Amino acid sequence: MESAKNMYAVDDNGTPLENTDDVAVLNSAIASFNSTASELEQSYKLLHAQVKKLNREVEEKNRQLEKNLLEKERVKNFLSSILESLPTGVVVTDLQGQPLMSNSAVEKITGVCPADMDKDSLDSWLASLGMPSRETASVFASDAEYAKARDDIRNLKTMRSPVYGADRESIGCLYIVQDQTRLKKLEMQSERDNRLKAMGEMAIKIAHEVRNPLGSIELLSSIMRRELEDRDDLHKMAERIITEVKSLDNAISNLLLFTRPQKPLLHELNLTSLLEEFVEFIRPIVTKNCIELFFSSNSQYVISGDRDLLKQVFLNLTLNAIQAMPDKGIINIDVQAYSDDDDHKGKWVEIVFRDTGIGIPKESLQKIFHPFFSSKDKGTGLGLAIVHNIIESHNGTIEARSEGQGGTTFLISLPRVV
Ligand SMILES: Nc1ncnc2c1ncn2[C@@H]1O[C@H](COP(=O)(O)OP(=O)(O)OP(=O)(O)O)[C@@H](O)[C@H]1O
Ligand SMILES: [Mg+2]
Repeated sequence: MESAKNMYAVDDNGTPLENTDDVAVLNSAIASFNSTASELEQSYKLLHAQVKKLNREVEEKNRQLEKNLLEKERVKNFLSSILESLPTGVVVTDLQGQPLMSNSAVEKITGVCPADMDKDSLDSWLASLGMPSRETASVFASDAEYAKARDDIRNLKTMRSPVYGADRESIGCLYIVQDQTRLKKLEMQSERDNRLKAMGEMAIKIAHEVRNPLGSIELLSSIMRRELEDRDDLHKMAERIITEVKSLDNAISNLLLFTRPQKPLLHELNLTSLLEEFVEFIRPIVTKNCIELFFSSNSQYVISGDRDLLKQVFLNLTLNAIQAMPDKGIINIDVQAYSDDDDHKGKWVEIVFRDTGIGIPKESLQKIFHPFFSSKDKGTGLGLAIVHNIIESHNGTIEARSEGQGGTTFLISLPRVV
């Protein structure tokens, strides 16, 4: 604004007018104008300064607001990434039960997205989780079996609790959903293990109780068999008692080995002699079942093994072969060395155990080494599972081959010492 301080009455040439009364009045008016204009100018400057200050304040406030908004956005994003990172499902509803939000874990656990549901569908979905209808937003927990898909049943734990506002008033409901399927399975497995352990301990006690009288029965029936050689019928009965006692004793050994697997006590042993010994021990039973037994070994092979455990292997294989040949048949046991590289001496010794029995159907071949797999009425299905464990504990391998009716061959490979 142009300054009005030095204004006074002048003629057309700019020369101050003579001081007449009129001029005096005019000058006084001009002076008053000058003073008012100066006051106005002062006020204007003040106002200008105030406006500037206000502008600065508004700018500062805007900056603060923007900062707050950014901070709020950051906190919101942080909270939602926490929610999304949770392995636990979270659902929030308002007081009327209308879904407000849910995280992706709920969808992963249950296969549905509660945030997209209306109030009624959410209520029936919550009912399928074992949540009773919500009269108050009270604390509640439920365990339920939930069908995620037709063949996918999950064990879910759901917890409900109220959501409180700033003044501690209830403003909604929070649901937490946890998948406990794996935990339940582990619990069941541990329960089963405990039961098996208890069963094993009981089996061990019974087995020991039964074993002693069994030994006496076998001894006495062997004496009877010898004494009754001239009484054909009684001799056969004694023979039968001995066979049954041997198979009972084997069942007890299998049960004990299964419930309390033994670590092999490895010693260098002559496998050929061990098999010869075994063949002589089992021959009476085999012969009695009208089965021929042949053994051949083209050298004396030494391995590192546990004598008792290997005998258990041969016994199980022979009993299976006998049971696979109810009328008559042949068992061949051959031992030979072989090598899986150019070392001609042969690193491995292979026992080939062949029978001419009923064979094993193709679909069962994969399962015969599984515990409790049996095609027999009175079989426990433990024999080959134990055989497999024993051979594995000797760092060896076992496989079965069968051509249907053409019989069965078991191939056992053991690391050779000499
Ligand atoms: N030599 C074989 N010939 C035909 N089938 C066999 C032979 N050996 C095993 N099997 C099959 O494998 C199954 C499992 O054998 P395994 O010895 O483990 O159990 P099991 O003989 O049935 O019962 P257990 O030996 O406990 O008395 C048998 O039930 C049978 O079906
Ligand atoms: Mg068996």
